[in-house]
Amino acid sequence: MVSHIPILLDGKALANKVNLALKQKIRLVLEKQSRPPGLATILIGNDEASQVYVSMKRKTCENIGIKSIHHQLDENTNIDDLRDLIKLLNDDPSVDGILVQMPFPADLRKYEPEIMRLVHPTKDVDGFHPNSIGENTVGNETFGSCTPKGMIRLLEEYDIPIDGQEVVIVNRTNVIGKPLTMMFMNRSATVTVCHSHTRDLDFHLNRADIIAVGVGRQNFITPERVKEGVVILDAGINRTAEGKLVGDVDFDAVKDKSKAITPVPGGLGPMTIAMLMENTYLSYCGHLNLTNN
Ligand code: GUN
Repeated sequence: MVSHIPILLDGKALANKVNLALKQKIRLVLEKQSRPPGLATILIGNDEASQVYVSMKRKTCENIGIKSIHHQLDENTNIDDLRDLIKLLNDDPSVDGILVQMPFPADLRKYEPEIMRLVHPTKDVDGFHPNSIGENTVGNETFGSCTPKGMIRLLEEYDIPIDGQEVVIVNRTNVIGKPLTMMFMNRSATVTVCHSHTRDLDFHLNRADIIAVGVGRQNFITPERVKEGVVILDAGINRTAEGKLVGDVDFDAVKDKSKAITPVPGGLGPMTIAMLMENTYLSYCGHLNLTNN
């Protein structure tokens, strides 16, 4: 057990701070500009979790002065209709960001990569377009993927060192693992990316200074798997049998061994939304040729 109290990386508090700062900036900019930032959201089908996420994103938009434009599409939407809608939004000057909520319904899932490429790179506030991923790789994180960006922002807010640290990421997706790897490399960490084919996950977990995990399995990270003083970033979202929201980390047991840890809920969820708001504001500034402060 560590001798100090672990730092709770309070994503909810930091997200509120980021959102409030954006709200103030938007209010000031609107003294001179005729239109607010605009974020278009597209949700295909009726996935319950996705509905909740999109409604939280829209609510945050409205709270801080971003215009939210929502398009709800039927589960059996024709892919051509989705393509046409995105092209329309790409050409709409009142839209700064386009968010197509993932995952798509099963029958349309094969189109996800194509649709990510169809969103215009200057409106790619999710950071999913290969352009944004490439920019992130060469150190321009303007349209960095929102959850990884939220992780880095939390570490920086709490002055947790990154330079030279051994970082182990358990996730290799285009949305979390890959962009997060680049963000840590951009800050001179030593990064190991683990996944379901990793031969000896415990070897890596046990030597990590920072663990970022998102695998969708409750209690995946237990105290025996981590070293004393580790920093934990938990991007997992799971429901217990009782319906409680939990991450991938056995929070109560692991927190006593950690230097710092994100809770679920109240960690990376709110940070992901705050980074989406920030990306939308950056996009707006880019579209209107404004400096961002
Ligand atoms: N599904 C889960 N998280 C996200 C996200 O950040 N963006 C989009 N578009 N879909 C998601």
